[in-house]
Amino acid sequence: MPSDPTTPWTILVLGGTGLVGGHCLRHLKARLSAPGSPSHTVTVRGRPVRIIATARSQDKARLLAQQGLAHEYRVLDLDQPRTFKKVLDGCNAVFFVNGYTAAMMHQAKWFIDAAAAAGVEHFVHLSADIPKNQFIQHIAWHELIDAYLETKLPNKWTLLAPGFFTENIVTYNGRKRVENGVITALGNPNAPIQFIACEDIGEVAACCLLDPDAHLGKTHTLLTEVTTIAEAVRTISRVLHTPLTLVPRTAQQTYDEALQLDPQDGGRLAYFACIRDLMGVTMAGLEAREKARPQGAPAKRPPVYPEVIREICGREPITIERWAKRNAEWFGDAKGGKL
Ligand SMILES: NC(=O)c1ccc[n+]([C@@H]2O[C@H](COP(=O)([O-])OP(=O)(O)OC[C@H]3O[C@@H](n4cnc5c(N)ncnc54)[C@H](OP(=O)(O)O)[C@@H]3O)[C@@H](O)[C@H]2O)c1
Repeated sequence: MPSDPTTPWTILVLGGTGLVGGHCLRHLKARLSAPGSPSHTVTVRGRPVRIIATARSQDKARLLAQQGLAHEYRVLDLDQPRTFKKVLDGCNAVFFVNGYTAAMMHQAKWFIDAAAAAGVEHFVHLSADIPKNQFIQHIAWHELIDAYLETKLPNKWTLLAPGFFTENIVTYNGRKRVENGVITALGNPNAPIQFIACEDIGEVAACCLLDPDAHLGKTHTLLTEVTTIAEAVRTISRVLHTPLTLVPRTAQQTYDEALQLDPQDGGRLAYFACIRDLMGVTMAGLEAREKARPQGAPAKRPPVYPEVIREICGREPITIERWAKRNAEWFGDAKGGKL
C-alpha cells in the first residue's frame, strides 16, 4: 500500500554528538533548508522530510538540541536494546554509527533486528573499508555486521566504507591529539594511508539518506587522498603557517591510553587491541613491500577514489590541505590562540 504522501519521511541519525554523525546532521539541515541550490532536496519519495537525532543521555540530547540540527531528539543508548523499538517508532530511514568498541557486534545486531521489525526502509551504515585477508579482528566485526544487515534488510541498505579519518590526527581514542604544537597521532608515520575527511563521509551519508533509491544496495568506498601521517602533518603545518611536531604513538601506547581511560570497558579495550594488531600487520606489510621494491622503483601507493565524493556530493573532496584550513581551530594552541 503506498504511504500517505503527507506523512513525513522520518530519518533517525545516530552519533550526532560525534564526528561523522554531527557532519551528517549539519549537511541534512543544509540540504533541507537551502531552496534554490542545485542539491536542494525537500522530499523523499514524495514525502516531506523529518530528522530525528539521537543522543546517549537526556543531558547530551539537550546539548545536541541547542544546535538546532533536527526536528526532534530521542535518547538512545546502544547498550539498552529494550529501548530500540520505541526509539525507532515511526522511522523510515536510519544512519547507524557506533563507537569504538567490540560491543558494536551485539549493538548493531540488535539494532538491525529492531529496525527490520519497525519497517525501516533504508539503513545507512558507517562501516569501514575492508582490507581482505588480513585477519584483523575489528574489520571482521564490521564485515559480519554488514553481512547481517544485507541479510536482515535485503536491498534496503547502503554501506559507507571509509578509510583513515583525517580527524584521527587531532582526536582519537577519547583524547585530543594536538597540544602546544605537538601531535601525538596514532599510526605508522611513514606508511602510505588512504585518508578521508569526516565531513566528506557525513555529507555522503546525508546525500544517501535524502535520495535512498539512488543508493539502495550500494557500498560507497570512501578514500580520497593517499599520503603518510608525517606528510599530512607537514601539509597542515605549511598551510596554517604553524610549526607542528609529530610524535607518533605506538599501537601499544594507544592501547595503554584506552586502558587508563577505563580499565573496566572490555569492549573498548578489545577494539584497541585490534588497532594494535592492525598496526603490526600494516607495518610488517610495509616492510615486506619495501624489501621487495626494486631499487629506484617508486613506492607502491594504495588506490583512492576522489570521484566518489564528486559524484555523490557534487563537489571536490576535502583534501588534507583544505581540511586544515577549515579546521584551524584544532591548532589554536600551536598558534598561540585559544582552544
Ligand atoms: N577513525 C577511523 O579512521 C575510522 C575508519 C573507518 C571506520 N571508522 C568507524 O567510525 C565509527 C566512529 O565514527 P566517529 O569517528 O564519528 O565516532 P565518534 O566521533 O567517536 O562518535 C561516536 C558516536 O557514537 C555515539 N555512541 C558511542 N557509543 C554509544 C552507545 N553505546 N549508545 C549510543 N551512542 C553511542 C557517541 O556518543 P557519545 O557522544 O555519547 O559518546 C558518538 O555520538 C566507528 O564505528 C569506527 O569503526 C573509523
